[in-house]
Parts: sequence; structure tokens; C-alpha cells
Amino acid sequence: MPIYEPGLLEVVKESRNRNLFFSTDLDKEIEEADIIFISVNTPTKTKGIGAGRAANIKNCELCARHIAKIATSSKIVVEKSTVPVRTASAIERILKSNEKGFSFQVLSNPEFLAEGTAIGDLMKPDRVLIGGQQTPEGIKAAETLVSVYANWVPREQILTTNLWSSELSKLVANAFLAQRVSSINSISALCEATGADVTEISRAVGMDDRIGKRFLMPSVGFGGSCFQKDILNLVYLCETYGLQECADYWRQVIEMNDFQKRRFAEKIVATMFNTVTGKKIAVLGYAFKKDTGDVRETPSMFIVRDLIQEQARIHVYDPQVKREEMWSEMAYTCGVTHENTPKLDESVITEEDVYQCCEGAHGVCILTEWDEFKTLDYKRIYEGMTKPAFLFDGRLILDHKRLREIGFEVHAIGKPDPNMFAGV
Ligand code: UDX
Repeated sequence: MPIYEPGLLEVVKESRNRNLFFSTDLDKEIEEADIIFISVNTPTKTKGIGAGRAANIKNCELCARHIAKIATSSKIVVEKSTVPVRTASAIERILKSNEKGFSFQVLSNPEFLAEGTAIGDLMKPDRVLIGGQQTPEGIKAAETLVSVYANWVPREQILTTNLWSSELSKLVANAFLAQRVSSINSISALCEATGADVTEISRAVGMDDRIGKRFLMPSVGFGGSCFQKDILNLVYLCETYGLQECADYWRQVIEMNDFQKRRFAEKIVATMFNTVTGKKIAVLGYAFKKDTGDVRETPSMFIVRDLIQEQARIHVYDPQVKREEMWSEMAYTCGVTHENTPKLDESVITEEDVYQCCEGAHGVCILTEWDEFKTLDYKRIYEGMTKPAFLFDGRLILDHKRLREIGFEVHAIGKPDPNMFAGV
């Protein structure tokens, strides 16, 4: 498989050439299909109007134009990509402008699966959302798609709404999830300053049924291809409709996330006697979360970028991330390239072996919550490190008490600073 996703290979193996077919013959497939899903990238615009916030729906428009050109019968066209609210109306106008006399129904069916758990999320989704026009034809089209999902999803978990609610719900769900992470991360900073413990707070707060315990895990910040992009998209929509206060409200979720990433890098430098110049720092985990090799908007990248600025020698170990992808995302998102940053290849080394990665290091940072990091031989790691041996747990996955017994100086997100609160 071109990507790492637990369980995906098995699904493809089982279904391929049975009821799953891959093809590059776009025109033939369009002609034969009854339902067409538009599942293309809608990246944040980097130039022009709304640059840095608005989603670019160019690819969706191109799909609609191509379908309009090729189709020789009526179709249901489903927006699967995450799009700004009211994109369906643009798609519909393009489809209907072909004047061939077929009927096109546009549905919105946002994807809520998360990477790393994609197959489970698909098999047992919390809900499936289908938006359609509230006309007899629109309702009939929505029912056709409902009947596809009803093969494995209980009917009461399939919601049908109007088009605009469905399109907007996707952005809102991601904004709310990201907001929870930013909320708990803001509290993690307060914990470090006051001696409170963020894990205890997460537990105490999450046990309130009305709040719930999921998405209250403090981290070095959220990453991934959706949260930041979708919130920025929401910010831009608010601005477009003249709702500056709403835009500012949601933008703050992103600013909190930027603060969390920056704060972690600053903490590393401050803890290691205010300088990491020439020091070896081992970064364990580069993917934006465990069980994926995806590095889009990964918090690790921002921390590595800040440590490069401080002239540290960085060694990175991640079980799934490819070095080329690390560099291309670094260039795309942070503008750090081999051309504008001399000696980049020497300052960041990627390692195949985690113990080699930590050998001689002044500090080890856990930046992705891979399960394998929980069971490493930390005694062996400690013995190979330069002393004092600093360990920074950016995901709260390790047993800090045990690590301190081994000899590490442990610093962790949202945990009382061991130097400030020694013995308290
Ligand atoms: C997200 C949504 O969850 C999914 O519904 C949508 O379809 C796509 O966007 P994804 O980006 O794959 O999915 O991952 P998710 O599990 O949501 O994690 C996003 C980021 O938040 C990760 O960097 C993760 O580490 C971080 N996170 C998540 C936390 O820091 N703490 C938490 O408690 C949960």
C-alpha cells in the first residue's frame, strides 16, 4: 500500500477485483457509474484571495466539469471532500450547465474517519451524514445513498440533512475536536506553572458526562491534514460573511496550538541550560499521531525546525515516516529547504534504530505516542546518553517515576516542573 493504515491491506486484498476495482480510465468509469464520489484534495490556498485560510476547491470544480462533459446518463454526484459550505451549489450549477438533459443530484457525504483508525471508523462509524436538496429528487437521491450505507450501518446512525448543514457539520466537528485539544493544552501550561497535574485534571473533567473523556489528551499540539486546514476554512467563511468576532474566536484555537508547539521547543532549550547548540537531541516520533506515517502539519516538524534554529544536532526515529516526506512537508509548510538552510542534511539525521538514535544524546524527546516507545529499554538508553540525561515526554505515555529512578531528568507536558516543585 502507498500509505500505512492498520487493516487497510487486508480490506483491499479481500475486495480487489470482487467489488473493488482500480482504474485510470476516468471517462469509462464516469459513464458507467450511477453514483460518483468526488474525493479530491481541497488544500488551503497559498496565494491570492483568502491565502492561508480559504480552501482551494479547484479540484472539485474540475471533477464537476469533467463529469458534465463525459456523462451520458443521469448521475448522483457525492461531495466526499471537505469543502466550504455552499460548494454543492457551485458543483450543481456546473453539472447542470451541460444542457444534455440528464438529471444530476448533488449530495454531501463528509468523511469523519481518523487516520490510524480508519478501517474501524469506517466499519463502525459514530454516524454517517448525508445532505441533499430538500426536493423530491434530492430526497430520493439521498435515500439511494442511505441504502448503500445501510448494508453495514444501523439506519438510526445515518443522518440526512439539507446540503448546507452537512457541508458545515464536517468543519464544525473538526473545529470542536481541535478546540478540546487546544483547551486541555492551554491548561497543561497552567499546570506546569502551578504544580497541578494535567492528567488528573483531564480525568476529573472528563468524568463529567456532559464533557466526556475523549480528546482531552494533552500533547505537543495537534497536527494532521484536517484540523488546522478546516479551522482556517471556518475562519475564512466567518470573515466572508462579515462575522469577524466568530473568525477571531476560532482562530484562537490555532494560535493556542502554535503556542503549545513553540512552548515545548522553548522548554527543551531552557531546561538544557539555555543552549542546545551542537548538542545531540533524539526525537522519537515524527508522524502527527501513532499508527500513521503521515507528517502533514505534524507538531514534530515545528519542534525540529525550532531546534535547527538553535543549531542542535537532531536525530529522528519514527517507525513509519519516510525521510523524503519529512523534507517535502518541511519545505511546503515551514519553508525550510536545503537551498535556504545550509547543512540541513547534517543537522537532521534519520535513524533506523531507536537505540542508535539515542546513543550519546543530551536529550530525548517523545513527540508521537507510538506504543513501541512505552516498552523501550530505558535503562539501556540512559546508560548510552550524555549526563545529565534529559527526557521530554510530549505525549504523556511514559512512566515518569520509573524513569526518574533510572536517573533521567524528566520533563513532561502539563506536569509539575521537577526543578521548580522538587519535593512538593
Ligand atoms: C480528524 C478527525 O478526528 C476526523 O473525524 C476527521 O475525519 C479528520 O480529522 P485525524 O486528523 O486523522 O482525524 O486524527 P485525530 O485522531 O483527530 O488527531 C488529530 C490531532 O490531534 C493529532 O495530532 C493528535 O495527536 C491530536 N490529539 C488528539 C491530541 O493531541 N489529543 C487528543 O486527546 C486527541
